[in-house]
Amino acid sequence: MNDDATALAAALARPHRRIVLDVGCGDGRATARLARKEPETLAIGLDANLDMAARVRRRAGRDASRGGVPNLALVRASAEALPRELAGRADEVRVEYPWGSLLAGLLSEAGAPDVLAGLRAALRPGGRLWIVLNARATPDDAADRLRAGLEAAGFVGIQVGRTGVAPSTGWSKRLAAGRPLDVVLAEAQAPA
Ligand SMILES: C[S@@+](CC[C@H](N)C(=O)[O-])C[C@H]1O[C@@H](n2cnc3c(N)ncnc32)[C@H](O)[C@@H]1O
Repeated sequence: MNDDATALAAALARPHRRIVLDVGCGDGRATARLARKEPETLAIGLDANLDMAARVRRRAGRDASRGGVPNLALVRASAEALPRELAGRADEVRVEYPWGSLLAGLLSEAGAPDVLAGLRAALRPGGRLWIVLNARATPDDAADRLRAGLEAAGFVGIQVGRTGVAPSTGWSKRLAAGRPLDVVLAEAQAPA
């Protein structure tokens, strides 16, 4: 087992009320904020490149009396190959402001891997999926493509729309510069 797999196994073995996966967690700040706000939730941030999350990861690993966050795990993994231990475990999966192959997979770009089927496999029956795309960096038909991909992956209760939101993650705060962000927002559920 590599270090990330060991850390993930240890986190899953600790008692928790629910599991939230933040796929493409970037700097990990939003994941860490969730873990601090909900101490009984196991918050797992996954990213193909965890360099931006190095600081948050270091701090989270400290003793709890020194600001550590025991219910946070940050794991290097790609959305196309999520750790097998997560299959059917997540109560909620979040993908916020993805780019690169993660965005291409969500929008079913030609040749992109099937990311949505993997996200569904990580959810427990009835688990929730939450996707936020930066509307300015996505094609005009992004909402239609996302809806079609969610249907093809077997999600139910699908809602997709364009709206304005207050930025809440590291990347969205950078993008928004204090203004509301124009986003494509999708919510769906794994079948119960
Ligand atoms: C714009 S950042 C957003 C980070 C964070 N969600 C936020 O809002 O601050 C997009 C992230 O997606 C990650 N990413 C891109 N393709 C990925 C893939 N195939 N699997 C996992 N992470 C991926 C990148 O490494 C990057 O950290």
